[in-house]
Amino acid sequence: MDNNILSLRNVSKLFGSEKNKALKLKKSGVDKDTIYEKTGVTVALWDATLDIKEGEIFVIIGLSGSGKSTLVRCFNLLNKPTSGQIYFQGEDIGKFNREQLNDYRRNKISMVFQQFGLMSHRNVLGNVEYGLEVKGLSKDERYEKAMEMISMVGLGGYENEPISSLSGGMRQRVGIARALANNPEVLLMDEPFSALDPLVRKDMQFELLTIQRKLNKTIVFITHDIDEAFKLGDRVAIMKDGEIIQIATPEEMSEHPADDYVSQFIDSADKTQVISVRNVMITPNSIVRLKDSLNYSINTMRTNGVSSAYVVGKKMKLEGVITIDDAIQARKKGLTISDILIRDINTTSPDALLTDIMSMAAETPFPIAVVDENNSLKGIVSKVHVLSSIL
Ligand SMILES: Nc1ncnc2c1ncn2[C@@H]1O[C@H](COP(=O)(O)OP(=O)(O)OP(=O)(O)O)[C@@H](O)[C@H]1O
Ligand SMILES: [Mg+2]
Repeated sequence: MDNNILSLRNVSKLFGSEKNKALKLKKSGVDKDTIYEKTGVTVALWDATLDIKEGEIFVIIGLSGSGKSTLVRCFNLLNKPTSGQIYFQGEDIGKFNREQLNDYRRNKISMVFQQFGLMSHRNVLGNVEYGLEVKGLSKDERYEKAMEMISMVGLGGYENEPISSLSGGMRQRVGIARALANNPEVLLMDEPFSALDPLVRKDMQFELLTIQRKLNKTIVFITHDIDEAFKLGDRVAIMKDGEIIQIATPEEMSEHPADDYVSQFIDSADKTQVISVRNVMITPNSIVRLKDSLNYSINTMRTNGVSSAYVVGKKMKLEGVITIDDAIQARKKGLTISDILIRDINTTSPDALLTDIMSMAAETPFPIAVVDENNSLKGIVSKVHVLSSIL
């Protein structure tokens, strides 16, 4: 008898309307990019078959766009597979009716996201209690359960704090406490720690292992970081272009990588080739608008302890950078932000690989601005972020 809690059998997920055309191409061996060019259909997940054992930490790793989130979102049917079956404790969840599905999502499986997904108008306790309210627990029961989880994740004493006063690491703890409060059998975690700085991230990894040992939950954990994968994972699945390339324990995978792609992931010397800017960028804490006053700009930089601020226009369009020294001088002379704006700054796209920006990062006087195709500011990366993510 097996102890599998979740199983996928030949699960595929295609996005787009001309699925039949895409399926034909895929079956004749055409690659994902070409299929997209020809049909506009993305083969996000292809023929995934796997079993997750009760109580294990199962890690999914792969490049950006390889289908990790798509796979994990199948487990709670946030993504309905195009074909294939998904089993929870032997039951085909694709056959659940509305009521069974609600029960499954409320009581059996919870998700923790990268961007926390917390409610900023509620305090720590209010966030952790949320799912219990939905379930209809009494006030006392909610309180007791939530406080237990808050203390479990190391936030005892912070229950009445507003979310806005918490650091990234603390917010992620709240996210975990909220997911655990429902007492689910399975915890799905989609790159939960990737927005955290490296030291906080190490703390959180330790915390997660501790919690897992205490509660013995099954955890499905996505990451793009092989060190994190090997540290946390009982088993690791590696994905490429929507397909699972190998499933193995960290030891097996190190000793017998299935192919060059897997070896490249394992070889940390090549980390810059697999980590994208999106994975290391942070949200800049000093952003001002073109029409803001110099007084406001100087205060913003001082409050955040930085010597420069990013200037944006409508829809977060990047205009440039100002420095605190220039701003102080300009204030004396009665000038405005436009007068001291440095427009010629280094930018990159969230999809660029670290290897593409290494030399730029070494030289840039300000952190590199990460902008999308509309030149909207998405984040920043500094030399320190680049280096600390590959060491
Ligand atoms: N809702 C959607 N509609 C259309 N295409 C989608 C949708 N969701 C994902 N895709 C596409 O499916 C592919 C797999 O995406 P997915 O988000 O699963 O990748 P990922 O491995 O989680 O990447 P990342 O590391 O960037 O989070 C990508 O090509 C993506 O553009
Ligand atoms: Mg993803």
